[in-house]
Amino acid sequence: MTLASRRPLVAGNWKMHTTLEEALALASTVAGRCRTVTEVEVALAPPFPWLVPLAERLEGSGIALGAQNCSQFERGAFTGEVAAFMLTPFCRYVIVGHSERRALFGEDDAVVAAKLIRVVEHGMTAILCVGERLEEREAGRTLEVIERQLSRACQDLPAHRLGQLVVAYEPVWAIGTGRPATPQDAQEVAAFVRTWLGRRFDEGASRALRILYGGSVTAGNAGTFFAERDIDGALVGGASLDAEQFCGIVEAARVAVTRRTKEA
Ligand code: 13P
Repeated sequence: MTLASRRPLVAGNWKMHTTLEEALALASTVAGRCRTVTEVEVALAPPFPWLVPLAERLEGSGIALGAQNCSQFERGAFTGEVAAFMLTPFCRYVIVGHSERRALFGEDDAVVAAKLIRVVEHGMTAILCVGERLEEREAGRTLEVIERQLSRACQDLPAHRLGQLVVAYEPVWAIGTGRPATPQDAQEVAAFVRTWLGRRFDEGASRALRILYGGSVTAGNAGTFFAERDIDGALVGGASLDAEQFCGIVEAARVAVTRRTKEA
């Protein structure tokens, strides 16, 4: 299965940015510009409080919403947490295991695994982030790190839930640095992820799964990633806050999938 049969996903991770007014304006602009793009799935992951107003604003637009995080617990006395079931009415996606959560909020692989289960059990799709740190890449340990993160995060995932998984390869050193991975390095990891999931779960399901690249993606470089056979879209940070840039990335995915379809 190639990019032609996997509908690319371009998701914007807004992180802890935007006022309500900015969020509404950005979402409206993106929705307007992406109105005619059916070949690419577009998702926005705003801060929690903007999910409800954005769900209203985006109704009928075809643009999906995602949350940036959720609790590993089902429900209960967990002050300040947001449970997966609370997100289901608004979100198609939930990002889990982002490197900022791992590094700044102490999320280990066990927590990431628990969050993954909460997300899929509540009917959403998890965007699982994996990625190595610079010293791990320099030590030649990239694939070992990716395998460890994948195997631990997916340890409790039943095989029939693989369709509710998207994997985002986000090398930590490429996030917010303006220094993206090379498309070849990103492809190597994406192919490794697909093969690993195929062996662990099911080959057919793994061929249908979307693998994204994230880390300093811009409208200028996105096309070089989308030209790689195992990269099915992008998880975009900084550039997703600029409608022009973000829609340029969506357009690059549209061009890539159209080309693949013609070649197939
Ligand atoms: P940047 O696109 O700003 O590098 O961030 C990537 C990211 O962390 C998306 O989740």
